[in-house]
Amino acid sequence: MALAAGPDATAAALLAWYDRHARVMPWRIGPAARRAGERPDPYRIWLSEVMLQQTTVAAVRGYFTRFTERWPRVADLAAAADADVMAEWAGLGYYARARNLLACARAVAADHDARFPETREGLLALPGVGPYTAAAVAAIAFDEPATVVDGNVERVMARLHAVEAPLPGAKAELSRLAARHTPLERPGDYAQAVMDLGATICTPRNPACGICPLNASCAARAEGIQTDLPRKAAKAAKPTRQGMVWIARRGAEWLIEQRPDRGLLGGTAGFPGTGWDGTEAAPPLAAGWQAAGEVRHTFTHFHLVLTVMAAELPPDGGGNPERGEWRKAAPGDLPTLMRKAHDLAATMRPLGRIGATD
Ligand code: ADE
Repeated sequence: MALAAGPDATAAALLAWYDRHARVMPWRIGPAARRAGERPDPYRIWLSEVMLQQTTVAAVRGYFTRFTERWPRVADLAAAADADVMAEWAGLGYYARARNLLACARAVAADHDARFPETREGLLALPGVGPYTAAAVAAIAFDEPATVVDGNVERVMARLHAVEAPLPGAKAELSRLAARHTPLERPGDYAQAVMDLGATICTPRNPACGICPLNASCAARAEGIQTDLPRKAAKAAKPTRQGMVWIARRGAEWLIEQRPDRGLLGGTAGFPGTGWDGTEAAPPLAAGWQAAGEVRHTFTHFHLVLTVMAAELPPDGGGNPERGEWRKAAPGDLPTLMRKAHDLAATMRPLGRIGATD
């Protein structure tokens, strides 16, 4: 995509703002340190960008710190057991990403001598690395003038240029506009500056236009339509699906089933249950099952209402269940949906929290 030939006023204003207001993040080399020659660690940038695709900087901090303390380099992560990585990822959602994360770390370790490729093209060839991550790592870690477009950048561009066409159809146009502003100098800082602006000033509902470094040139603000942009095409309503899980405890052990690698919550630990598409299943063992209630969870394409059945067995009871295995598990190792189900079952006496000693 064509880059601006001369200095771009938008990029210059954003970089000057970023020099003063860059957010501090555990993986980020701030503008002063960057100017002094410090380079970001591509592993930390890649890891943070994969994590940030599901949630906010605030939510990612703790996960990032735990991951990098446990696996400080890509080779360490590549050597990790799948179940350990899935357990650390628990709660971040989109579990296919955790599996792709491992596949990517292993490819970097095995095929690239544990060094990340330094170009967008090279990064794109890694398993699980899509256009967003490749551009973000190329720009932030290697200062390639790649255009990084996430939801924040789309919003900033839609407002700056008063793009009225709705998302997702407007994506290509917003990417073109973003590319036009991407500078050849400091593209990594620029990418982070636009995202910071979108996260802190050009926010979805209450943009702080009074203190925005781009306010004088913002077309949406001039028309007073900034909070209306970007427009979004009406979405089809999400369907609601039903399912059931059986939560059994005997002493300190819970009946846990590893979900298949493919599909929703793939590869994560959970409780045996029915399918979520109307597929029936029988309880995993004969017990005095009691209904604990329902938990609700929203996935990308549907809402799920899960009926939770709970049973307490004597410490030597339970025999050989038809599904799952008796394990001591920590609630933190479970994905959010299963944690909600566990917490509901735990409200029933005499069931208690996973890992509880009584
Ligand atoms: N959101 C996703 N990646 C980001 C980054 N590098 N800086 C700020 N916000 C982000």
